[in-house]
Amino acid sequence: MAKNKTVYVCSACDAEVGKWAGQCADCGQWNTLEERRPEPALLPGRRDGYSGVVTPVQAIDEVELAETPRISTGLAEFDRVLGGGLVPGSVVLVGGDPGVGKSTGLLQVSCALGGGRRVLYVSGEESPRQIAMRARRLGLPQEGVMLQAETVVENILATAAELKPGVLVIDSIQTMQVGALNSAPGSVTQVREAAALLTRFAKQSGTAVFLVGHVTKSGDLAGPRVLEHIIDVVCYFEGNLDSRYRLLRAAKNRYGAVNELGVFAMTDKGLREISNPSAIFLSRQEEITPGSLVTALWEGSRPLLVELQALVDQSRAEIPRRLAVGLEHNRLAMLLAVLHRHGRLATYDQDVFINVVGGVRVSETSADLPLLLAVASSLRNRTLPADLVVFGEVGLAGEIRPVLNGQERLREAAKHGFKQALIPKANQPPEKIPGMEVIAVGKLAQALEILPATPPVG
Ligand code: TYD
Ligand code: MG
Repeated sequence: MAKNKTVYVCSACDAEVGKWAGQCADCGQWNTLEERRPEPALLPGRRDGYSGVVTPVQAIDEVELAETPRISTGLAEFDRVLGGGLVPGSVVLVGGDPGVGKSTGLLQVSCALGGGRRVLYVSGEESPRQIAMRARRLGLPQEGVMLQAETVVENILATAAELKPGVLVIDSIQTMQVGALNSAPGSVTQVREAAALLTRFAKQSGTAVFLVGHVTKSGDLAGPRVLEHIIDVVCYFEGNLDSRYRLLRAAKNRYGAVNELGVFAMTDKGLREISNPSAIFLSRQEEITPGSLVTALWEGSRPLLVELQALVDQSRAEIPRRLAVGLEHNRLAMLLAVLHRHGRLATYDQDVFINVVGGVRVSETSADLPLLLAVASSLRNRTLPADLVVFGEVGLAGEIRPVLNGQERLREAAKHGFKQALIPKANQPPEKIPGMEVIAVGKLAQALEILPATPPVG
């Protein structure tokens, strides 16, 4: 391609085309193509990366392995998500909806880290006064934390080069702009280039960088899917804004396991870690109602017990409603078809609502069986035993498939006082788990037999 040709870039998916059109051919969004003029060369050697120095080649078994040093963030649950603490020189993207607690959480981390090293907290959204007020309100230690209200990346880098902070926080990447570029802040080009410059700084200086990223309605980080490959750790805050609990999940981690989950409660003193998360998601009512059921999920490296609720009700709409909060919609539709075909329970004239209590988002197939059992329980108005835990994947043929870490899930349930477990046949533990009666099933129809035959009294 000729060097100076104008290209058009989709602000939604970052696709490049040579000709303007109303709709992006790649992602189908309308009015998202923006002209990108050839950008002036930024830093020398940056685009083609050629510096004239060839890096040495090493035999793989001769590479020296130094233990990755880790810095504790002061919040053990945050450390867990990062894979055991913050790695110097790493870049961590913290995403989440507005108001979910990103700024507060990172301010807490900054203040905790400030004790031993210098921290530069840069905000493009709040003034130093607002940030300082928050730190004081939360009663955080303030030693070593420097604040800057700035949005131009070159200025931030100049400050950082002088201050040499151990940790740099950028709140948020969408408000930052590279002065040398002419696109608007928040555009894909700006976000990507700003992140690239900050990443380069992190690698060269050994400063750990936190980038705050806002999430769009569709759940993507605004624009920068493109960011994920240059960043070391991507984690998202999850949780209903009206719930007290916040979950921090690693979506990518070069230094640890993905899908690791940290659990926090929001308090007037900031985020507080919850080290025994199963206990909080299980705060069930005294009287168990039909449609309620506890399952054991596997989150990162530990089990998590959560309550699922289903409400099935005669539909008045032409197309019955299916609504799943915390679960994937399409999977629900598929499972309801399996329930009809292999469990002989029809829901085509029923509205089906599913909720995972506590704002947990379930992406695991082990929730299939508990979900269908909760639906069946609500549909037939039969209460399931309060001390029952259920997990298992359901296949299209109505077979119950095994899930990973079945034993650990059972043990977690036993620890929390559950006395019966309905699980896949292939997950049958070789040894008895004390205090736990295990019912292992191979077919959905068999699993449904656990529903009591008589309706509850009253
Ligand atoms: P904030 O950190 O500003 O969210 P974000 O940066 O993700 O948009 O938090 C939103 C509000 O919640 C803010 O007014 C502070 C308040 N908050 C608490 O009072 N306690 C907490 O533990 C947290 C995390 C937030
Ligand atoms: Mg914020």
